[in-house]
Amino acid sequence: MFSFGRPSGGGYLAAVADIDDPELACVVAASMDADPELLPVLPSLLSDLEDLGACAADVVAILRDAELPPGARGLDLGCGKGAAALAVAETFGTSMLGIDAIPAFVEHARARAHARQLAQRCVFEVGDVRGPVSRATDFDLAMLLALGDVLGDDPSTTVLALRRWVRPGGYMLIDDAFVADGVDLDDEDLVGCHDHATTVAALQAHGDVIVSERIIDDPDKKGFYTEMTARIAERCRVLAPQFPDLSEAIREYAERQQHEVALLEGPVVGALWLLRRGPSPS
Ligand SMILES: C[S@@+](CC[C@H](N)C(=O)[O-])C[C@H]1O[C@@H](n2cnc3c(N)ncnc32)[C@H](O)[C@@H]1O
Repeated sequence: MFSFGRPSGGGYLAAVADIDDPELACVVAASMDADPELLPVLPSLLSDLEDLGACAADVVAILRDAELPPGARGLDLGCGKGAAALAVAETFGTSMLGIDAIPAFVEHARARAHARQLAQRCVFEVGDVRGPVSRATDFDLAMLLALGDVLGDDPSTTVLALRRWVRPGGYMLIDDAFVADGVDLDDEDLVGCHDHATTVAALQAHGDVIVSERIIDDPDKKGFYTEMTARIAERCRVLAPQFPDLSEAIREYAERQQHEVALLEGPVVGALWLLRRGPSPS
């Protein structure tokens, strides 16, 4: 359904987001703050970025607090272009299975795995992370990085969905955000967001324990997100004239990305949480 490759001055779009299921397309688009009609051009709009949400360096840094066993097996749900999964495999020697709904991202991740001699240990597949993505349910690590509410409306239901993939004693890594203390939670930009205390309580509601938390608020990291947004804005500026029917949606997308970064510099605080799965059944 959402698939095209139309002439664009210099040729055809190199990458196409081909998602047949309209409901899944809406979920995927929402996870990227994009209008669903933009899905076909999203891979092009994001062609200058490897990390699409979480910063792979932060993911590696927090996982140093995990005691991953030798030969650990990891799952990256909504892996995007595979930046975090590849960094984890390279650093910790893990095997990784990455799942994403956008075929162009999965192809990119596979190509990067080959280029970095990680293809033996890193497998990337197209799929819907809400479904049965693997026969194995005893991963040592499951990551959910910057997917918002794809697995659940709140941190507790998200963890419940995530823990079914992880063996007792294994790890779950979540990249999300909370609302800074003192901020009015009724603000329309903050619908569905929680303060820090509520978030960490909900994350641990099923008997799992937060073993490490990494708050993304240092000036360097803000610079990282500002640069990401600047690259997206420049791509949008270049691509908008090539897609007259989508130019308004492309412009709005660039604005929304800037707004997101402004929120992260203001009332919203990005964070990574590393949880160790407790023994209770899922
Ligand atoms: C903001 S990006 C984050 C990508 C990556 N985790 C990162 O941090 O760089 C969100 C990703 O989730 C994927 N996604 C969203 N919903 C999905 C679903 N139901 N099944 C598979 N992938 C999904 C999107 O295609 C996109 O690549």
